[in-house]
Amino acid sequence: MVSLSKETWGSRVGFVAAAIGSAVGLGNIWMFPMRAGLYGGAAFLIPYLILLFLVGVVALTVEFTLGRAVGGPIEAYGKTLPGGKYLGIFVNAMMLMIFAFYSVVVGWALKYFVTALTGKLLSVDPGSFFGSISFSTEAVVWQFIAIAITIGIVIIGVQKGIERACKIMMPLLFVMIIILAIRSITLPNSYAGLEFYLLPDWSKILSGKTWMIALSQMFFSLSCLGMSNVVYGSYIKKDQDIPLSAIVTAFGDTAVAVTAGFAIFPAVFAFGLKPTAGPGLVFVTLPVVFQKMPGGIIFAAIFFLLILFAAFSSTIAMLETNVQAATTHLNMSRKTATILFGLLAFVVGAPGAINPTYFDWIINISTVYLGPLGALIAALALIKFGVDKAYEELRKGALIEFPAIWQPWVKYVYPIVIIVIYISQFILG
Ligand code: TRP
Repeated sequence: MVSLSKETWGSRVGFVAAAIGSAVGLGNIWMFPMRAGLYGGAAFLIPYLILLFLVGVVALTVEFTLGRAVGGPIEAYGKTLPGGKYLGIFVNAMMLMIFAFYSVVVGWALKYFVTALTGKLLSVDPGSFFGSISFSTEAVVWQFIAIAITIGIVIIGVQKGIERACKIMMPLLFVMIIILAIRSITLPNSYAGLEFYLLPDWSKILSGKTWMIALSQMFFSLSCLGMSNVVYGSYIKKDQDIPLSAIVTAFGDTAVAVTAGFAIFPAVFAFGLKPTAGPGLVFVTLPVVFQKMPGGIIFAAIFFLLILFAAFSSTIAMLETNVQAATTHLNMSRKTATILFGLLAFVVGAPGAINPTYFDWIINISTVYLGPLGALIAALALIKFGVDKAYEELRKGALIEFPAIWQPWVKYVYPIVIIVIYISQFILG
């Protein structure tokens, strides 16, 4: 039984806050700065920004437009592609897996935030502290709390829950990251960090690898995997704008990622530490920085709150994706669907909170091997729907117009770009 969901965004600002919230996440803070540092510094921004305009903004418009025109992934793929209903179920399963491992990391961040608030984070040895709490039964408890908070927001609904939470969290997130960046840059000896982050290495611009890294980073960072953005798109009203919202989302996401580098590297280098990527950066290196920094405990609390805002505004998009599918196709109430799929993500993720091998496996499957296929499915669905009809849809309620070249671009260039990134991931490792 298909019942059309009546959920919509209350305002354009609310929608953009939710879309930026979904996009801004761990990817911005623990991957982007490192990749920029390694692949050309300031020079990396040039390919990234070019690709953001040519591919990133287009990716967002494809997923939002498809969602508004046809519906969430199961409707959108089901009505356009052969076996599309199963493709819709498949991307929902991927979304659940992403939520499952993400919630483990949010659990760690919760533990760190609480430990910062009590002041104890200053006296632990960050390396062994992380070792003792990650991959333990305690991590399962924190993961559960992370999921419970996500459920608490999603259960309230799209406008009163997700939209309102993002309208509060996103402005605060911007303020916090700027405070951290100023603190970091004004530390004595921060210059080496700025040099690592920004010193342009122009030779890297000519390497194909740089462009591929920028592209795959961008798809993950914008959450363009044919899942949550299609769902968020289905909540856009016909008189609400898509093109400008996509541009603001893309640049807002990038602004946070770039600023994260200013908050991290100057401080890391100022204390003679080595930059790393991923969990080691956030949960081991930065706590050492906070221990050495004057007033560090305050900045530690701000930093982990920032991580939590970035992460929760993403996890609510993840859970909402499954909730949209279940309320639309399984005839479930929002309440039942939210609790059920939240608990399911807990069950799928909990072994990952204990076992690092399973944790890595679930990350690789959902983000590297299968995630990009979701973006491709969304692109193919939009092409089958008709790029001319989609272009008309894109113009409804639009505050700015995209040139008509959007149509052949989406039809011929965009899917090829996704396929090339997908294949190159395996070649480049
Ligand atoms: N963009 C998020 C980040 O940078 C991660 C992400 C990928 C995501 N796909 C998503 C978030 C879907 C919400 C919904 O960390």
